[in-house]
Amino acid sequence: MTSEPARQPVDATTTTAWGSLTELSKNLQPDLRGWFATDPARAGRLSHQAADLHVDLSKNLVTDEVLASLRDLADEVGLAERRDAMFAGEHINVTEDRAVLHTALRRPSDEPLSVDGQDITADVQDELAKMYAFAEKVRSGEWTGVTGEPVRAIVNIGIGGSDLGPVMAYEALEPFVQDGLECRFVSNIDPTDVAQKTADLDPTTTLFIVASKTFGTLETLTNARLARDWLWRSLVAVGAIEDSEEGRADAVAKHFVAVSTALDKVEAFGIDPENAFGFWDWVGGRYSVDSAIGTSLAVAIGPDAFAELLAGFHAMDEHFRTEPFERNVPVLMGLLNVWYVNFRDAHTHAVLPYAQQLHRFPAYLQQLTMESNGKSVRWDGTPVTSDTGEVFWGEPGTNGQHAFYQLIHQGTRLVPADFIAVANPAYPLADAVGDGGAVAAGADVHGLFLANFFAQTKALAFGKTADEVRAEGVAEDLVSAKVFSGNRPTTSILAPALTPSVLGQLIALYEHITFVQGVVWGIDSFDQWGVELGKKLALEIAPAVAGDEAALAAQDPSTAALIAKYRSLRG
Ligand code: F6P
Repeated sequence: MTSEPARQPVDATTTTAWGSLTELSKNLQPDLRGWFATDPARAGRLSHQAADLHVDLSKNLVTDEVLASLRDLADEVGLAERRDAMFAGEHINVTEDRAVLHTALRRPSDEPLSVDGQDITADVQDELAKMYAFAEKVRSGEWTGVTGEPVRAIVNIGIGGSDLGPVMAYEALEPFVQDGLECRFVSNIDPTDVAQKTADLDPTTTLFIVASKTFGTLETLTNARLARDWLWRSLVAVGAIEDSEEGRADAVAKHFVAVSTALDKVEAFGIDPENAFGFWDWVGGRYSVDSAIGTSLAVAIGPDAFAELLAGFHAMDEHFRTEPFERNVPVLMGLLNVWYVNFRDAHTHAVLPYAQQLHRFPAYLQQLTMESNGKSVRWDGTPVTSDTGEVFWGEPGTNGQHAFYQLIHQGTRLVPADFIAVANPAYPLADAVGDGGAVAAGADVHGLFLANFFAQTKALAFGKTADEVRAEGVAEDLVSAKVFSGNRPTTSILAPALTPSVLGQLIALYEHITFVQGVVWGIDSFDQWGVELGKKLALEIAPAVAGDEAALAAQDPSTAALIAKYRSLRG
């Protein structure tokens, strides 16, 4: 509908709420023990439901006054207005002059949305139907390779948003993958990646999906060429195709499909546009797993489960769009992140899934959050007026407990952390060990696993005092080493099970958290100019690496010496 120029960002630091938050922070003595002791309703009051997610914010370092001021801040910077502009298709991606409509990818088919004169709901549904039809063909065995064999392995070639979303979701939804099908994901331009992922594959039953929004990304196109060469060589080697132009064309037609917004470039690569799935410039790469970029996933889990994933996204979109800020989980979590970054000097944020299947979720969130909010200028080109994007990181629990939790518990840095768990595991195995020790025979191992989830947030919040340590009979000279200060903030997110819908809800939750922070900071969370310089320089440096003396001489002394060293080591 509208493509009105976005209004100027409000400088959050000049708002009344920012002043209040500064004062509140100055006077705040975090005391989670005391706050819970004197306010039995705190846990209930600060726990909220967002679709299927139960979210407990009560172990954060905030009082009701702080939360009220954070909501005032959201009002003063015009969060609701900006959110509504996003959902309506205004060009809020200012530096690229684009609408931001990943939410339209999961909009119900009976809710038309006109943007820039186009009914994009209809466009989305058409493309989904095409992707679903393809997925069914592969799953049923109707789609065959050059020898008439059905597909057993799908290799997605992409990077950034064209990789991280599909691989994360594939791993998360592995129990829903059709028997006899597997997906692999190639992203790194290090040729080892293609080599390792194809090493044990049968070329006659392998299908490659080249996923690239721009179809111009060096890594992806290089890997696609490597994969194509592997396919040709391997098919010739097993006598499946002639070593001829026709043989090679047939191989590409039956073993390569593409996903892109640039269908002309897909064709130039040799892939029939009929075998290509499109999306639109209003879907950012890191917001694209629910577009055709998710084709590998749609094949693996099937159209019904993919539709369920989209419904989960939409449920969280609706929560974000309609729920009052007091109960709006993405709004509250985004504002809490602002609180920690701008008022409590936090530099990082940990995301700790207690679900092995979510082991790629922190990596996925790194792109979502840091490519979105790692900016130093605002959407009108002026410098930001406060710190922006924190470093997101994490690993699944309990692995992290035996690695870096030490720092979160007793280090000098404040590390706000999100703990994510599911109540019902995909593989409900009872304990088979029965070692008579910590784990009794028949014990619910998942319960034991989640006991860690509950224990960690409790330990972080309430710690252990010196007196408590002494009461355990600890020698006085060791007491200080064994004290836990507590007051280490966490948010607990508990879902019934890791279904496609719940995964969609989780992803959308973090998309909207990221958006909320970006609005407060006045930045365009949907461009990524910061990745361009490195890409350009790599292309400029490549000739020097290959031995071009003039190109080598044009480098700075450090880079030139490093390249020379590399060349001498390479021999
Ligand atoms: O690294 C920058 C970036 O543009 C990401 O935003 C994007 O997800 C990735 O590269 C891949 O881009 P494409 O899908 O166009 O190959």
